[in-house]
Amino acid sequence: MDLASRTRADFPILSQKVGLDRKVNGKRLVYLDSAATGQKPRQVISAIDEFYRHDNAPIHRSTYELAERSTNAFEGARERIAAFMNATVQTTIFTRNATEAINLVAYAWGRKNVGPGDKVLLTQMEHHSNIVPWQILCQETGATLDIVEITEDGLLDEADLDAKLTAGNVKLFAVAHISNVLGTINDVAALVEKAHAAGSVVLVDGSQAVPQLKVDFDSLDADFYVWTGHKAYGPTGIGVLHGKRETLETMGPWLGGGDMIKVVNFADSTWNDLPWKFEAGTSAVAEAVGLGAAIDYMIEIGIDNITAHERALTEHALPRLAEIPGVTVVGPPAEQRGGVISFTLDGMHPHDIGELLGREGVCVRTGHHCAQPLMRRLGVPATARASFACFNDTDDVDALVDAIHTAREVFEL
Ligand SMILES: Cc1ncc(COP(=O)(O)O)c(C=O)c1O
Repeated sequence: MDLASRTRADFPILSQKVGLDRKVNGKRLVYLDSAATGQKPRQVISAIDEFYRHDNAPIHRSTYELAERSTNAFEGARERIAAFMNATVQTTIFTRNATEAINLVAYAWGRKNVGPGDKVLLTQMEHHSNIVPWQILCQETGATLDIVEITEDGLLDEADLDAKLTAGNVKLFAVAHISNVLGTINDVAALVEKAHAAGSVVLVDGSQAVPQLKVDFDSLDADFYVWTGHKAYGPTGIGVLHGKRETLETMGPWLGGGDMIKVVNFADSTWNDLPWKFEAGTSAVAEAVGLGAAIDYMIEIGIDNITAHERALTEHALPRLAEIPGVTVVGPPAEQRGGVISFTLDGMHPHDIGELLGREGVCVRTGHHCAQPLMRRLGVPATARASFACFNDTDDVDALVDAIHTAREVFEL
């Protein structure tokens, strides 16, 4: 049985029809927006429900049974997440999302290690959350931003990267593992090696990668690796920062408050051990439990199966989209991309595409995808984007293609 038939029934949201008159004329929900936020399998929904029904209590403090269960559920989720990512529990820090994880590094590591004359190197394919925190850091410290270009087919320009690293003074290189617009899969292990050879620390934004392919934090050798729960079949409100232990140990805390301390005096305080030093305040406990269940789910269905399934859907979709007059797909061929396809259609603004596809029950993201500099590089104001998950099948891709044809008819193209 293929992965979509095996998993589709796990996603309660997909069983509904959408449209004005759902009971009679409703359309099958074709969810092609998992790169924006993923749908949640019943296993994740139940884990959160069960936690609140049976185990909810403050963590790390009280000694009664419920509190022990709650703490075990939270720390147990961390252990499974760490094992899945081949990281340790000490180097698996819960944040609110990937954005907060990057900001944490920009503040706690960046303010200490980046100064006037230094450079922070980014790429043209970064999401705003991997641009703006570095911009603020540079403005505050007198460092400068430098940007690695992309090639015409949407790959990282390796020659440009080499030149920018060789120019010197690069303190940090921040790069997406998979682009949320182009779908490009960057060979981050090789990039990390190059950047390290040039003396730079590396942060990898794995927001699009963790739901799609096996990530091994230890062997990638990145100094920091961030990702976000809601795109990885988990709930919103939880993300993860992995960092090298020796680097995390040198960093001071970012947020101060409860849980991140050992001893507090009015004169001074001492900090908790890793990972809690970076987890100030009451944690998102149910969300961590939900993310643990999401990781269990990905392990159960097989992360390699997800990769292969999304590759097959991409291989099916790219030629079908190319057949439609006026459609231009941005980004590399299927072998170099994940399950993300952005496209434009001559004569129609992406927002109109999104609206007309929505009427057919087909959910795609439209706009700049939080990557305005990349849109400028591509010479477009916006694109439409279809993205896949384990539950999508070729019928979903065909529904997308049919809906684009219908939209063209509405616009008399
Ligand atoms: C590549 C990439 N990085 C970072 C983010 C930010 O994720 P979050 O908003 O969950 O922090 C996204 C979300 O769209 C993304 O696609």
